Amino acid sequence: KGKRAFIAGVADDNGYGWAIAKSLAAAGAEILVGTWVPALNIFETSLRRGKFDESRILPDGSLMEITKVYPLDAVFDNLDAVPEDIKTNKRYAGSSNWTVQEVAESVKQDFGSIDILVHSLANGPEVSKPLLETSRNGYLAALSASSYSYVSLLKHFLPLMKPGGSSISLTYIASERIIPGYGGGMSSAKAALESDTRVLAFEAGRKNKIRVNTISAGPLRSRAAKAIGFIDTMIEYSMANAPLQKELSADEVGNAAAFLASPLASAITGAVIYVDNGLNAMGVGV
Ligand code: NAI
Repeated sequence: KGKRAFIAGVADDNGYGWAIAKSLAAAGAEILVGTWVPALNIFETSLRRGKFDESRILPDGSLMEITKVYPLDAVFDNLDAVPEDIKTNKRYAGSSNWTVQEVAESVKQDFGSIDILVHSLANGPEVSKPLLETSRNGYLAALSASSYSYVSLLKHFLPLMKPGGSSISLTYIASERIIPGYGGGMSSAKAALESDTRVLAFEAGRKNKIRVNTISAGPLRSRAAKAIGFIDTMIEYSMANAPLQKELSADEVGNAAAFLASPLASAITGAVIYVDNGLNAMGVGV
């Protein structure tokens, strides 16, 4: 009760970040979100105009409140790292303090501390290309936006996190099994994210008593997933082959995140938790 969460990677009401925010809000947490700078305007406008009101409804009938929306680009650690063309880009020029370090400083100034950090973002510019056709830049961009972004967020938010706090990211089974179509180095980025989850669990656990886990989620028709282009096939495949033959709802991932963030999970850290209707356990399609 009375916990505060910062959720990076919310820009509409379709993705896992939004569902996690809702589950945490339903459990009594105060919600802060970090929204990718180019998506900020439309997200804030839609929020203000009530476009998300229906999806803001919590189980008790009240509406989820987002206390503050912070512009964020998790590819940049601090102002020195921002190239000139981004600084002057008109989608960025209207906002300020959106590098990871600056966002952490702003949250510290505004609220002092947080209890829960969620990383629900990924980006791979060449995701639709097979790995053999992926450029070095595309590969490194996928790792920068989808893996290092988490190292950087945790590093900068750790000093704000109360001991006993919890940090969660989202990963995908393509890190450990072959999923053709999840290209551009995104499979590599998720493998890095999962390995980092273990190392960061050790470092943040020893240093600050913070738990670090990642949820390996099944397929969801989010904005990011639609951009990859094979999401409907993945959902059908899961429906046909998973032990539980139902469509995965984002809320089920949200609820698992709320569990992991709670004292009920006080001995769970460094783990990859599957929330995928059990698909990961299958050895063959049936
Ligand atoms: P989403 O589109 O709701 O979330 C991705 C968010 O990342 C967007 O809000 C986007 O604006 C933001 N973003 C991209 N680059 C950014 C940057 N440089 N700085 C800050 N924000 C940035 O889509 P989804 O699918 O809910 O993704 C959330 C997480 O779930 C990702 O890590 C994704 O890989 C993971 N996931 C998704 C699955 C799916 O089927 N949708 C399956 C397994 C994992």
